[in-house]
Amino acid sequence: MTIKISETLWRIYNRAARPYPWQLHDGNLPWDDPAFSARMLREHLDESHGAASRQAAERAKQIAWLWDNLGLQPGSRLLDITCGPGLYAVELARRGCHVTGIDFGPAAIGYAQELAAAQGVADRCAFIQQDVRQMALDGAGFDAALLLYGQLAVMPRADAQEVLARAARALRLGGRLCVELLNPEKVDRKESNWWFTDDTGLWGDAPFLHLGERFWLEEEQVSVERYHILHLETGQLDVVELCDQVYRPDEVEGMLRATGFTAVTPHPAWDNLPLYDADEWIVYTAVKN
Ligand SMILES: C[S@@+](CC[C@H](N)C(=O)[O-])C[C@H]1O[C@@H](n2cnc3c(N)ncnc32)[C@H](O)[C@@H]1O
Repeated sequence: MTIKISETLWRIYNRAARPYPWQLHDGNLPWDDPAFSARMLREHLDESHGAASRQAAERAKQIAWLWDNLGLQPGSRLLDITCGPGLYAVELARRGCHVTGIDFGPAAIGYAQELAAAQGVADRCAFIQQDVRQMALDGAGFDAALLLYGQLAVMPRADAQEVLARAARALRLGGRLCVELLNPEKVDRKESNWWFTDDTGLWGDAPFLHLGERFWLEEEQVSVERYHILHLETGQLDVVELCDQVYRPDEVEGMLRATGFTAVTPHPAWDNLPLYDADEWIVYTAVKN
């Protein structure tokens, strides 16, 4: 269906002055949309940037860190929550772990399964396509769980708390969790806007205009990026709002304690691992009690 571009421009002109967090598509990217998921997979595998998954050399450093800090060893049972295309999970399976990965991106999960088979570790990997808020692995007795690249923060606080509770119930007593969240001191609170055009990328493979706005919601402590994507050949408009809840370290500790964890340890900047964006993150490790 073709829509007059002028009509679409009026829709953009009449947009809400400010976004309401978590309203539009749960305040997240449409990861679970098959076409978007297929395009996102290209970004995960694109070694020229680390925006979707970090580049291979950086992942190798993180994996070594996780191995040491989570006490992993061959035979360990590991849960990778929001595993994406399995780039961490499959490597850890290659090292001898038995890994379950969970993610709601269809192309990501499909790729993770193919990668495990190609690396000869399919028998040590299980990948589940599911929203992690519905994760049902109570009593599974995992030795460790990962929740990397800030994905706990792309859901409202109550959902994040629920995911942590489900993770706790999936771990054995003494099992370890690793959660990576934005460092609140490094979050960009400046409001801004930007635009670009392209004819291929995350938003499609035909010419589009991307209009981006960044908001900081002080009361909620949420940063929101709102994108209007105008598809030039059809006049269609996609609107995406990507929300990120910002947590202070004491709030993270409180949530982890409330969901059954102890020995919460923050590791600012991944203990200074040489990652391109290490400074922006705090990795928390905690023990199920
Ligand atoms: C930035 S990617 C990181 C993937 C992987 N951890 C990595 O670093 O390669 C975020 C992933 O979280 C997944 N995700 C986000 N929210 C989710 C949810 N509610 N349930 C399941 N998966 C989710 C997306 O599908 C995507 O694969």
